[in-house]
Amino acid sequence: MSEQVLNEARRRRTFAIISHPDAGKTTLTEKFLLYAGAITSGGAVKAHEGRRSATSDWMDMEQKRGISITSTALNFPYRDHELNLLDTPGHRDFSEDTYRVLSAVDAVVMVLDSAKGIEPQTLKLFEVCRSRNLPVITFLNKLDRPGMEPFELLDQIEEQIQLRPTPATWPVGSFGDLRGVIDRRSAVFTRFTRTARGSQIAPEEDVDAARAAVEEGAHWEKAAEECGLLDAIESDVDLPSFLAGESTPVFAGSALTNFGVRHLLDAIVDLAPAPSARLDVDDKPRHLDEPCSAFVFKVQANMDRNHRDRIAFARICSGRFDRGMVMMCERTGRPFATKYASTVFGAERTTIDEAFPGDVVGLVNATGLNIGDSLYDETGPSVKFPPIPSFSPEVFATARPVDTGKTKQFRKGLDQLNEEGVVQVLKDPDWGDASPVLAAVGQLQFDVFANRLEFEFNAPIELSAAPYQAIRVTDKGSADVLREKVGVRILARFDGDLVALFENKYALQRLEQNEPDLVLEPIIAG
Ligand code: G4P
Repeated sequence: MSEQVLNEARRRRTFAIISHPDAGKTTLTEKFLLYAGAITSGGAVKAHEGRRSATSDWMDMEQKRGISITSTALNFPYRDHELNLLDTPGHRDFSEDTYRVLSAVDAVVMVLDSAKGIEPQTLKLFEVCRSRNLPVITFLNKLDRPGMEPFELLDQIEEQIQLRPTPATWPVGSFGDLRGVIDRRSAVFTRFTRTARGSQIAPEEDVDAARAAVEEGAHWEKAAEECGLLDAIESDVDLPSFLAGESTPVFAGSALTNFGVRHLLDAIVDLAPAPSARLDVDDKPRHLDEPCSAFVFKVQANMDRNHRDRIAFARICSGRFDRGMVMMCERTGRPFATKYASTVFGAERTTIDEAFPGDVVGLVNATGLNIGDSLYDETGPSVKFPPIPSFSPEVFATARPVDTGKTKQFRKGLDQLNEEGVVQVLKDPDWGDASPVLAAVGQLQFDVFANRLEFEFNAPIELSAAPYQAIRVTDKGSADVLREKVGVRILARFDGDLVALFENKYALQRLEQNEPDLVLEPIIAG
């Protein structure tokens, strides 16, 4: 059994794609599925109106092609491996959900639009990767059309995110006429042929240097010269520093035309790490072949109006998960049955009978499970994994029910959406639920919150921006002092911790300098 678990874990690669909206994440995801043989033709799922709800794209795909896709984790086999691609919601705005997903992966593919380079959202998501030392593979996308020179992009990576770029493949061809890529590790030039809208795997041909020089002329000359330069500065792929989150193998290509996609997918298998022992709160490893353990990184309720249920998504950390086994929740000390373990996609559910480290299971109706909960096989030793970091809220709002007759529904919604982590609900210790302050990483979370309160809890709300600029965790003694200050409000979090909200971040800075004894802990990602 433990041999089987180790073998299965070795075959897993669990990763996410991070990118700025429009850099090509959806296109690339689809091309991964095309190259893995999970779909037979790409390009049908297109970017049209309303496509920002990636779910509907996937829903469409699933219906059209009859494959099992979930909005949370895509699982597909490739080269005798099982790839788990966790979805980081592709919104323009940030949401904590995205960050949390990164706590459940072992590696990340960072997609850059070659015309735009590193954009703000990528930068922010990358910071989360850095805080976890996650290995990052970079894909320079859209090289089929005019953009920055690849060297310029490498400089940006080095300067803006302090990650040493090590090109694994290098483009041959000019803007508008991408011919293929050189794999610097094997010195093989792969020439691709475009198919209509990249709907099929691009035919490819390995061409030796002598022939390439004749057939590709100036394109080849330039690429060979650039590769010579890269050799001279010894920027070769370096596994140890990649795994330590210090360097990033860089792949060149175009998700739209499929150029370079296979090289990238191969790199996920060949370079990205398989799941490894996860450390518990005391830094003790929970070895892969120990009894089953998992942690919840996402909770979603009422995903389907007909079901009205609650699904906890858990990443398996050790052991073999068998549907029907009884798991314990470390926080509550309560057991729960896993009869309804599924992959979930919108309204569609596919039962999962077994899962191994690196896999994601959706536990349907696992009432009482919260984000960050550690789960373990009731027959095995218990385990408590470190909490999923919460991210410092940057936007604040107040909420009240439009109809005071709906206060009960409003309260119920507040509690549930808080538990799910849709927003953080901060309550006044004296006023209770009456006028909560909502805190979030991005405005989008408020929109989702308001929408769900209205449609799921039948309690439309009025949201107003709250004038706070900073938040700190404090304790009771300091809270008593802070209450006396102008522009400071003390509230309590869901977990009972007291927080101080500041209307002016400079006033906070002054306080930190002038009254160093006050407890004012920043909420840091990591
Ligand atoms: P996202 O999920 O990161 O937001 O990006 P998405 O894949 O939806 O891609 C955004 C746009 O960029 C799409 O165009 C897509 O076709 C295009 N795109 C993605 N990869 C490449 C590439 O390698 N080369 C080129 N030239 N374009 C690429 P759109 O105009 O929004 O949609 P559509 O009109 O193409 O359907």
